[in-house]
Amino acid sequence: MIFTILTLFPGIFESPLNESLIKKAREKGLLEFNIVNIRAFAADIHHTADDAPFGGGAGMVMKVEPVHYAIEQVRKERGSTHFVLLTPHGRRFDQESAAGFSRIPHLALLCGRYEGVDERIHSLVDDEVSIGDYVLSGGETAALVVVDAVCRLVPGVLGNEASPADESFSRGLLEYPQYTRPREFMGMQVPETLLSGNHEEIRRWRRKESLRRTILRRPDLMERFQPTREDEIMMRQILEEIE
Ligand code: 6GU
Repeated sequence: MIFTILTLFPGIFESPLNESLIKKAREKGLLEFNIVNIRAFAADIHHTADDAPFGGGAGMVMKVEPVHYAIEQVRKERGSTHFVLLTPHGRRFDQESAAGFSRIPHLALLCGRYEGVDERIHSLVDDEVSIGDYVLSGGETAALVVVDAVCRLVPGVLGNEASPADESFSRGLLEYPQYTRPREFMGMQVPETLLSGNHEEIRRWRRKESLRRTILRRPDLMERFQPTREDEIMMRQILEEIE
Protein backbone atom coordinates (compact mmCIF):
# COMPACT_ATOMS: atom_id res chain seq x y z
CA MET A 1 0.00 0.00 0.00
CA ILE A 2 1.22 3.48 -0.87
CA PHE A 3 0.56 6.50 1.36
CA THR A 4 1.17 9.98 0.07
CA ILE A 5 1.13 12.70 2.71
CA LEU A 6 0.73 16.31 1.62
CA THR A 7 1.87 18.73 4.31
CA LEU A 8 3.44 22.10 5.09
CA PHE A 9 5.58 20.34 7.74
CA PRO A 10 7.26 17.28 6.19
CA GLY A 11 9.73 17.05 9.10
CA ILE A 12 6.97 15.90 11.46
CA PHE A 13 6.82 12.54 9.63
CA GLU A 14 10.51 11.68 9.77
CA SER A 15 10.75 9.69 12.97
CA PRO A 16 7.20 8.27 13.39
CA LEU A 17 7.37 6.51 10.01
CA ASN A 18 10.86 5.17 10.64
CA GLU A 19 10.25 3.19 13.82
CA SER A 20 8.85 -0.13 14.93
CA LEU A 21 6.03 -1.78 12.96
CA ILE A 22 5.96 0.75 10.10
CA LYS A 23 9.72 0.64 9.69
CA LYS A 24 9.64 -3.17 9.39
CA ALA A 25 6.71 -3.10 6.97
CA ARG A 26 8.57 -0.58 4.79
CA GLU A 27 11.66 -2.79 4.80
CA LYS A 28 9.50 -5.74 3.71
CA GLY A 29 8.10 -3.63 0.85
CA LEU A 30 4.52 -3.81 2.18
CA LEU A 31 4.21 -0.06 2.73
CA GLU A 32 5.59 2.90 0.85
CA PHE A 33 5.48 6.54 1.98
CA ASN A 34 5.71 9.56 -0.22
CA ILE A 35 5.92 12.85 1.70
CA VAL A 36 5.03 15.90 -0.40
CA ASN A 37 5.90 19.40 0.77
CA ILE A 38 2.99 21.59 -0.36
CA ARG A 39 5.23 24.65 -0.09
CA ALA A 40 7.24 23.36 -3.07
CA PHE A 41 4.14 23.95 -5.23
CA ALA A 42 3.69 27.59 -4.26
CA ALA A 43 4.25 29.69 -7.38
CA ASP A 44 5.75 32.87 -5.86
CA ILE A 45 9.39 33.30 -4.86
CA HIS A 46 8.53 33.23 -1.16
CA HIS A 47 6.69 29.90 -1.56
CA THR A 48 3.61 31.26 0.16
CA ALA A 49 1.28 28.42 1.10
CA ASP A 50 -1.01 30.31 3.46
CA ASP A 51 -2.45 33.79 3.61
CA ALA A 52 -4.70 36.10 5.67
CA PRO A 53 -8.44 35.37 5.49
CA PHE A 54 -10.68 37.47 3.22
CA GLY A 55 -13.06 39.39 5.45
CA GLY A 56 -10.46 39.71 8.16
CA GLY A 57 -9.91 37.85 11.39
CA ALA A 58 -7.08 36.08 13.18
CA GLY A 59 -4.94 33.26 11.85
CA MET A 60 -3.89 32.13 8.40
CA VAL A 61 -5.72 30.11 5.77
CA MET A 62 -4.14 27.40 3.60
CA LYS A 63 -4.12 28.59 -0.03
CA VAL A 64 -5.90 26.61 -2.73
CA GLU A 65 -3.44 26.84 -5.66
CA PRO A 66 -0.39 25.11 -4.09
CA VAL A 67 -2.68 22.29 -2.91
CA HIS A 68 -4.19 22.01 -6.41
CA TYR A 69 -0.75 21.77 -8.06
CA ALA A 70 0.49 19.27 -5.46
CA ILE A 71 -2.58 17.06 -6.03
CA GLU A 72 -2.19 17.28 -9.83
CA GLN A 73 1.45 16.23 -9.54
CA VAL A 74 0.58 13.23 -7.33
CA ARG A 75 -2.15 12.11 -9.78
CA LYS A 76 0.22 12.46 -12.75
CA GLU A 77 3.05 10.52 -11.07
CA ARG A 78 1.03 7.84 -9.30
CA GLY A 79 -2.26 7.50 -11.15
CA SER A 80 -5.47 6.61 -9.34
CA THR A 81 -5.42 8.08 -5.82
CA HIS A 82 -7.99 8.54 -3.06
CA PHE A 83 -7.46 12.01 -1.53
CA VAL A 84 -8.51 12.55 2.08
CA LEU A 85 -8.42 15.92 3.83
CA LEU A 86 -7.69 15.83 7.57
CA THR A 87 -9.91 18.46 9.13
CA PRO A 88 -11.97 18.91 12.31
CA HIS A 89 -15.00 19.27 9.96
CA GLY A 90 -14.61 15.78 8.53
CA ARG A 91 -16.64 12.68 9.33
CA ARG A 92 -15.37 10.82 12.38
CA PHE A 93 -12.56 8.37 11.62
CA ASP A 94 -13.14 4.96 13.25
CA GLN A 95 -12.13 1.30 12.90
CA GLU A 96 -14.57 0.85 10.04
CA SER A 97 -13.05 3.80 8.14
CA ALA A 98 -9.60 2.33 8.81
CA ALA A 99 -10.68 -1.01 7.32
CA GLY A 100 -12.08 0.78 4.25
CA PHE A 101 -8.88 2.80 3.74
CA SER A 102 -6.73 -0.34 4.10
CA ARG A 103 -8.27 -1.70 0.88
CA ILE A 104 -7.24 1.39 -1.14
CA PRO A 105 -3.94 0.83 -2.98
CA HIS A 106 -2.94 4.51 -2.94
CA LEU A 107 -4.22 6.75 -0.16
CA ALA A 108 -3.25 10.43 -0.06
CA LEU A 109 -3.66 12.34 3.20
CA LEU A 110 -3.83 16.12 2.94
CA CYS A 111 -2.97 17.78 6.25
CA GLY A 112 -5.04 20.89 6.84
CA ARG A 113 -3.68 23.89 8.67
CA TYR A 114 -5.23 24.36 12.08
CA GLU A 115 -6.77 27.79 11.46
CA GLY A 116 -8.41 26.47 8.34
CA VAL A 117 -8.14 25.82 4.62
CA ASP A 118 -9.60 27.78 1.71
CA GLU A 119 -13.14 26.42 1.24
CA ARG A 120 -12.35 25.58 -2.42
CA ILE A 121 -9.84 22.93 -1.27
CA HIS A 122 -12.83 20.78 -0.26
CA SER A 123 -13.76 20.40 -3.93
CA LEU A 124 -10.30 18.94 -4.69
CA VAL A 125 -10.56 15.92 -2.36
CA ASP A 126 -12.62 12.71 -2.30
CA ASP A 127 -13.15 12.51 1.44
CA GLU A 128 -12.68 14.44 4.72
CA VAL A 129 -12.03 12.96 8.15
CA SER A 130 -11.55 14.13 11.73
CA ILE A 131 -10.07 11.91 14.43
CA GLY A 132 -12.15 13.23 17.32
CA ASP A 133 -13.80 16.16 19.03
CA TYR A 134 -10.79 18.16 20.11
CA VAL A 135 -8.55 20.74 18.44
CA LEU A 136 -5.16 19.72 17.04
CA SER A 137 -2.53 22.20 15.86
CA GLY A 138 -2.69 20.73 12.37
CA GLY A 139 -3.73 17.67 10.39
CA GLU A 140 -0.26 16.11 10.67
CA THR A 141 -0.75 14.25 13.95
CA ALA A 142 -4.21 13.16 12.74
CA ALA A 143 -2.61 11.81 9.55
CA LEU A 144 -0.19 9.77 11.69
CA VAL A 145 -3.14 8.34 13.62
CA VAL A 146 -4.83 7.36 10.35
CA VAL A 147 -1.61 5.82 8.99
CA ASP A 148 -1.13 3.80 12.18
CA ALA A 149 -4.69 2.48 12.29
CA VAL A 150 -4.77 1.69 8.55
CA CYS A 151 -1.38 0.13 7.94
CA ARG A 152 -1.78 -2.49 10.67
CA LEU A 153 -4.77 -3.81 8.69
CA VAL A 154 -2.71 -4.21 5.51
CA PRO A 155 -2.09 -7.96 5.03
CA GLY A 156 1.39 -8.98 6.23
CA VAL A 157 2.13 -5.83 8.25
CA LEU A 158 1.37 -7.45 11.60
CA GLY A 159 3.44 -10.55 12.26
CA ASN A 160 0.44 -12.53 13.46
CA GLU A 161 -2.21 -12.49 10.72
CA ALA A 162 -4.93 -13.57 13.17
CA SER A 163 -4.72 -10.63 15.53
CA PRO A 164 -6.48 -7.57 14.01
CA ALA A 165 -9.90 -9.27 13.99
CA ASP A 166 -9.45 -10.16 17.65
CA GLU A 167 -9.01 -6.61 18.91
CA SER A 168 -11.15 -3.96 20.51
CA PHE A 169 -13.72 -2.44 18.13
CA SER A 170 -13.24 -4.92 15.30
CA ARG A 171 -16.02 -7.01 16.82
CA GLY A 172 -17.66 -4.05 18.51
CA LEU A 173 -16.36 -4.76 22.03
CA LEU A 174 -13.39 -3.57 24.08
CA GLU A 175 -10.56 -6.04 24.59
CA TYR A 176 -10.47 -8.37 27.60
CA PRO A 177 -7.86 -7.83 30.38
CA GLN A 178 -4.40 -9.26 29.69
CA TYR A 179 -1.80 -10.51 32.17
CA THR A 180 1.77 -11.74 32.00
CA ARG A 181 4.28 -12.85 34.64
CA PRO A 182 4.49 -12.62 37.64
CA ARG A 183 1.39 -14.46 38.88
CA GLU A 184 1.28 -12.18 41.90
CA PHE A 185 2.33 -8.52 42.16
CA MET A 186 1.91 -6.56 45.41
CA GLY A 187 -0.92 -8.84 46.41
CA MET A 188 -2.69 -8.56 43.04
CA GLN A 189 -3.34 -11.99 41.53
CA VAL A 190 -3.72 -13.15 37.94
CA PRO A 191 -7.25 -14.60 37.54
CA GLU A 192 -7.17 -18.35 38.24
CA THR A 193 -8.97 -19.23 34.98
CA LEU A 194 -6.09 -17.88 32.87
CA LEU A 195 -3.67 -20.26 34.62
CA SER A 196 -5.98 -23.27 34.26
CA GLY A 197 -4.97 -24.35 30.76
CA ASN A 198 -8.66 -24.95 29.97
CA HIS A 199 -9.03 -23.23 26.61
CA GLU A 200 -12.83 -23.24 26.55
CA GLU A 201 -13.02 -21.75 30.04
CA ILE A 202 -10.43 -19.12 29.10
CA ARG A 203 -12.38 -18.24 25.97
CA ARG A 204 -15.59 -17.78 27.98
CA TRP A 205 -13.82 -15.73 30.68
CA ARG A 206 -12.35 -13.40 28.05
CA ARG A 207 -15.67 -12.98 26.28
CA LYS A 208 -17.43 -12.12 29.51
CA GLU A 209 -14.73 -9.65 30.59
CA SER A 210 -14.90 -7.97 27.16
CA LEU A 211 -18.63 -7.59 27.65
CA ARG A 212 -18.19 -6.34 31.24
CA ARG A 213 -15.63 -3.73 30.21
CA THR A 214 -17.70 -2.48 27.33
CA ILE A 215 -20.89 -2.26 29.41
CA LEU A 216 -19.09 -0.36 32.19
CA ARG A 217 -16.75 1.88 30.21
CA ARG A 218 -18.31 2.32 26.77
CA PRO A 219 -22.07 1.73 27.03
CA ASP A 220 -22.41 3.70 23.77
CA LEU A 221 -20.75 0.77 21.93
CA MET A 222 -23.40 -1.63 23.22
CA GLU A 223 -26.09 0.14 21.19
CA ARG A 224 -24.67 -1.25 17.93
CA PHE A 225 -23.59 -4.59 19.37
CA GLN A 226 -25.35 -7.75 18.21
CA PRO A 227 -25.11 -10.33 21.02
CA THR A 228 -25.16 -14.09 20.52
CA ARG A 229 -27.20 -16.35 22.84
CA GLU A 230 -24.04 -16.86 24.93
CA ASP A 231 -23.43 -13.09 25.10
CA GLU A 232 -26.98 -12.51 26.33
CA ILE A 233 -26.52 -14.98 29.17
CA MET A 234 -23.19 -13.43 30.12
CA MET A 235 -24.65 -9.91 29.97
CA ARG A 236 -27.44 -10.94 32.35
CA GLN A 237 -24.85 -12.39 34.75
CA ILE A 238 -22.78 -9.20 34.58
CA LEU A 239 -25.80 -7.05 35.41
CA GLU A 240 -26.61 -9.31 38.38
CA GLU A 241 -22.98 -9.10 39.54
CA ILE A 242 -23.07 -5.31 39.41
CA GLU A 243 -26.13 -5.05 41.69
CL1 6GU B 1 -8.09 15.92 11.25
N1 6GU B 1 -7.37 18.25 12.29
C1 6GU B 1 -7.31 19.15 13.27
N2 6GU B 1 -6.66 20.29 13.07
N3 6GU B 1 -7.88 18.96 14.45
C2 6GU B 1 -8.51 17.82 14.62
C3 6GU B 1 -8.61 16.83 13.65
C4 6GU B 1 -8.00 17.07 12.46
N4 6GU B 1 -9.31 15.78 14.14
C5 6GU B 1 -9.63 16.15 15.38
N5 6GU B 1 -9.16 17.35 15.69
